[in-house]
Amino acid sequence: MLSEQEKKEIEVVAGHYPIKRAAGIEALKIVQKHRGWISDEVLSHVADALEMSPTDLDAVATFYNFIFRRPVGRHVILVCNSVSCWIMGYDTIVSYLKDRLGIGFGETTGDGRFTLLPNVCLGACDRAPVMMIDDQLYVNLDAEKIDKILGSYD
Ligand code: FES
Repeated sequence: MLSEQEKKEIEVVAGHYPIKRAAGIEALKIVQKHRGWISDEVLSHVADALEMSPTDLDAVATFYNFIFRRPVGRHVILVCNSVSCWIMGYDTIVSYLKDRLGIGFGETTGDGRFTLLPNVCLGACDRAPVMMIDDQLYVNLDAEKIDKILGSYD
């Protein structure tokens, strides 16, 4: 069941579109902000609110990398795995992150602090290698920088 707050926020965002279903991604982002991820049950409630089928909403969610359909940690690390980042040290950065966190892609640390995921270009190719944690972009990464960044998250 969606909370009253979630319903209200979805209603507001849906009001900005000519048809409710066009607000699919925005509505999912609202619910994810409150719950951390989108379960099948929750997706179904959001679909009801937007007067569309869960299958159609799920199809939309699948094409948007920032909607999480499985439980994630308190913070999600998205590591860019596109061309500029490959050239500028993607392998080194990913190995370091995996060692430092003790997890692989698609996994969450035992303390529930971080989930590590690969992602297509994050739009800062001139400052590669790049990662994003939650809504914050981090560029020109190296091991020292990563240590400082990770240390700033609870
Ligand atoms: S290739 Fe990594 S930010 Fe574009």
